[in-house]
Amino acid sequence: MRQIQFFDTSLRDGEQTPGVNFNTKEKVQIALQLEKWGINTIEAGFPITSQGDFEAVQAIAKAATTMTVAGLARCQKKDIDRAYEALKEAKFPQIHVFLATSNIHMRDKLKMTKEEVIASIKEHVSHARSLFEKVQFSPEDATRSDRDFLLEAVQTAIDAGATIINVPDTVGYSNPKEYGELFAFLISNIKSDQEIIFSSHCHDDLGMATANALAAIENGANRVEGTVNGIGERAGNTALEEVAIALHIRKDHYQCESSIVLNETKRTSDLVSRLSGMAVPRNKAVIGGNAYAHESGIHQDGVLKNPETYEIITPQLVGVHNNALPLGKLSGRHAFTTKLAELGYTVTEEETNALFKRFKDLADKKKQVTDEDLLALVADQVRSGDEAYHLEAVQLQYVSNGHQGAIVSIKDTEGQEKVASAVGSGSIQAIYNSIDHVFDQHPTLTHFKIVALTSGEDAQAEVRVTIEDEATKEQVNGIGVDFDVLQACAKAYVQASGILKAKRGA
Ligand code: KIV
Ligand code: ZN
Repeated sequence: MRQIQFFDTSLRDGEQTPGVNFNTKEKVQIALQLEKWGINTIEAGFPITSQGDFEAVQAIAKAATTMTVAGLARCQKKDIDRAYEALKEAKFPQIHVFLATSNIHMRDKLKMTKEEVIASIKEHVSHARSLFEKVQFSPEDATRSDRDFLLEAVQTAIDAGATIINVPDTVGYSNPKEYGELFAFLISNIKSDQEIIFSSHCHDDLGMATANALAAIENGANRVEGTVNGIGERAGNTALEEVAIALHIRKDHYQCESSIVLNETKRTSDLVSRLSGMAVPRNKAVIGGNAYAHESGIHQDGVLKNPETYEIITPQLVGVHNNALPLGKLSGRHAFTTKLAELGYTVTEEETNALFKRFKDLADKKKQVTDEDLLALVADQVRSGDEAYHLEAVQLQYVSNGHQGAIVSIKDTEGQEKVASAVGSGSIQAIYNSIDHVFDQHPTLTHFKIVALTSGEDAQAEVRVTIEDEATKEQVNGIGVDFDVLQACAKAYVQASGILKAKRGA
């Protein structure tokens, strides 16, 4: 059977989702989980864009043991050299060079002629090949490019040393028939003595990203690019979990295999959802909360008699567990660390100490600490470990009818404490106004969501917020988890405010 390679760009294209910012620690955590999931190549970042991105790519390059680690670069020498610096310690490094080939991009964005674009591809792919064994080239906006010119650009990249050709549907414009035909056209017309891997890269603007990726595979693509949960620019990218499961469930049709460890799918999705702050819609294919729920009586009856009547994917296949062994307050450190390992977490001794303490505090308040609780605690710990600000205390003055008052105290990493108070029409508004005083900024709250992590009145609350900078309109996310809902609200807002402040350089 044909083997399809999986290329994950959650940390590059995925991080281009408005509001999503991973810190280096989070990126390494995600990268290690992607490796466990069976990803062949990870695009760890775009090293030239910032020192933070450079360091994250470097850290992932050092941490990955089986995956190829790629870095993105424009057709510019300085980008390629920077990617080389970031990736030189990777066991299996790869560079991904791109340049747009559609008329609209060349004319209005690049302000380059076709001849200049071809010359640039030749020069920069050759330079990349002088530094890297594996060079991937992407003609950006390929699906809106003139076909003959696209072929010329791809052939130029191959002649200059690229062995991986990625065909981006940058604006999510294509449909499965067209996209499939484009692969068939390119594959049958390029000339090369070496094996060339063709790869799909789709965006979901018209809701066809997964279908397009599968059409590419049917027409000869041996690699699929995408992100976990489909996060990414605008409507997002191809959701890799959807392609992996589709190839498995419909092996009869696609006749392809992959190295994806399917029962690591849910865990991978949960981790990316928590660290990105992007909740997975309940009705999302493959990993949504409703994917294995059966509501109507007829369906329930059928599933009880034979699950296959209405269930083509079993929860076990993707690693959805029924939480058989929750922990309680009598559970010791051994049970706790065993559970963490079962959930797939590799945490340092220091993190285990902090987590165990938080687990014990929680177990004092909650009868049963479930997998969901633990996953939230771990993600919160990974995130808050690098945070520049820490919520020390919230004090509220509540009146049943009138303005609420709040006092918050926040410490920075140097231990400096700032206290501020404010009023608001409700308790959360009073808390958020106080936090704004501490940070001396006034972002707009564009998204706010509270969910109970488990059922029962002793459930932990998880709050996700998105705030937008008044001037730049840049958005950042924050997540707070706590037994107390107002404390969770405050934590989420402090986290987002700290990230925003760092971005403003204030
Ligand atoms: O969508 C796109 O065109 C991209 C390229 C950089 C590959 O993400
Ligand atoms: Zn993209």
